[in-house]
Amino acid sequence: MSTKTDTTYDVVVFGATSFVGQILTNYLFATYGIGKEVRWAIGGRSESKLSTLKQSLGKGAGDLPMVVADASDESALKTMCDQTRVVISTVGPYALYGEPLVKTCAETGTDYCDLTGEVQWIRKMVETYEDKAKASGARIVHCCGFDSIPSDMGVWFLQEQAEATFGAPCQDVRMRVKVAKGEFSGGTVASMMNVAKEAAADPKLRKELANPFSICPPDHRSKTRQPSLKGAEYDRDFDVWLAPFVMGAINTRIVHRSNALQNARYGKEFTYDEAMMTGRGVKGRLAAYAITGALGGFFTASAFKPSRWVVEKFVPKPGEGPSPEAQKNGFYDLRFVGKTADGKTIKTKVTGDRDPGYGSTGKMLGEAGMSLAFDVEGDKQGGFWTPSSLLDGKLFDRLTTKAGLTFELLETS
Ligand SMILES: NC(=O)c1ccc[n+]([C@@H]2O[C@H](COP(=O)([O-])OP(=O)(O)OC[C@H]3O[C@@H](n4cnc5c(N)ncnc54)[C@H](OP(=O)(O)O)[C@@H]3O)[C@@H](O)[C@H]2O)c1
Repeated sequence: MSTKTDTTYDVVVFGATSFVGQILTNYLFATYGIGKEVRWAIGGRSESKLSTLKQSLGKGAGDLPMVVADASDESALKTMCDQTRVVISTVGPYALYGEPLVKTCAETGTDYCDLTGEVQWIRKMVETYEDKAKASGARIVHCCGFDSIPSDMGVWFLQEQAEATFGAPCQDVRMRVKVAKGEFSGGTVASMMNVAKEAAADPKLRKELANPFSICPPDHRSKTRQPSLKGAEYDRDFDVWLAPFVMGAINTRIVHRSNALQNARYGKEFTYDEAMMTGRGVKGRLAAYAITGALGGFFTASAFKPSRWVVEKFVPKPGEGPSPEAQKNGFYDLRFVGKTADGKTIKTKVTGDRDPGYGSTGKMLGEAGMSLAFDVEGDKQGGFWTPSSLLDGKLFDRLTTKAGLTFELLETS
């Protein structure tokens, strides 16, 4: 539990009116109700938008409290943080709007989780505010959506199984996306374009983004070469063609930070990478090349002003995203293979029951916030954590019993 006492709320959802914030708010209302065991409120910059959201929830939502604050107004953010033990934030792109809230949480001892996937921003937050968070007791947990909970908790689960079966963790783990049925929202596209734009203008940042240990503590920068898929490749473990997976750039960093924060539980020589399965035979091979080309095109076009406007014309705008139908019909299936130092192999699987980026992300973020509010022991000190290193088995239970995720051991050999 948070070290803070005497707050009005357990949890405030800041950015409740964002595309994903609305999904999250609906989820919390349906799951936890109002005026029951969880004291929660919605927050955002616009009182009228918050009221409209509240009305849209229907019967019983009249008593849902609202907190109005602009992301750039530190005094309003402090008033919000003083009222709650945990803030869940969906106000992004975080590199543009997120820093004042992280600063305020770190200063006021308020636990915090979000959906950022912006590595360069996470690194800046850790460097700037970790001392403050340690002093105040604030536990800060970035990346609590599709990036990076299924990867981070997926590796945690695989290593739990490996330790139970082989008595040792796997030194090498690979994650392969078998199915990811869903669409991007405007907010996510805006965040990805912002990273591409910043990286094009800054060679130091490009180098930083290429470093798999960029958000690990300085004493955990392993020399072990990390695999990194740059183009189409054949995978012998699963007998399929692979293409690069766009979220791998953040997920791999979070998994390495989790290893570091658990005293190298997965080993000092641990390697990890992610890729997308595109199928077998000629069709799989062509799809792998097509995806590689399309990804390269998106990032190149987003990086430079003359072509950026073309991309902006065709991608969803902030506030737009998949329809309720598409969220409901969405689904994902991730496969993991791990190998121990002495050659034993384990395969596991993680699935989610809605589209990865929104339907499932809203539920995962909500449960990460609830876990922060109710599960974390007082001996977990303040600082910048990852989902698995701070919330481990408690989050696992919430994800599997409430948020529609499954974790399965497939085979060992
Ligand atoms: N990790 C993942 O798996 C994952 C998945 C989905 C989304 N995301 C990330 O989550 C973030 C939200 O995505 P989205 O699609 O829901 O975005 P969105 O619909 O564009 O929402 C952005 C939100 O930020 C709020 N906002 C902007 N400026 C603000 C300010 N100055 N003060 C207070 N609030 C402000 C907006 O408020 P108004 O409502 O008042 O306009 C809106 O609620 C993005 O950064 C996206 O990349 C990550």
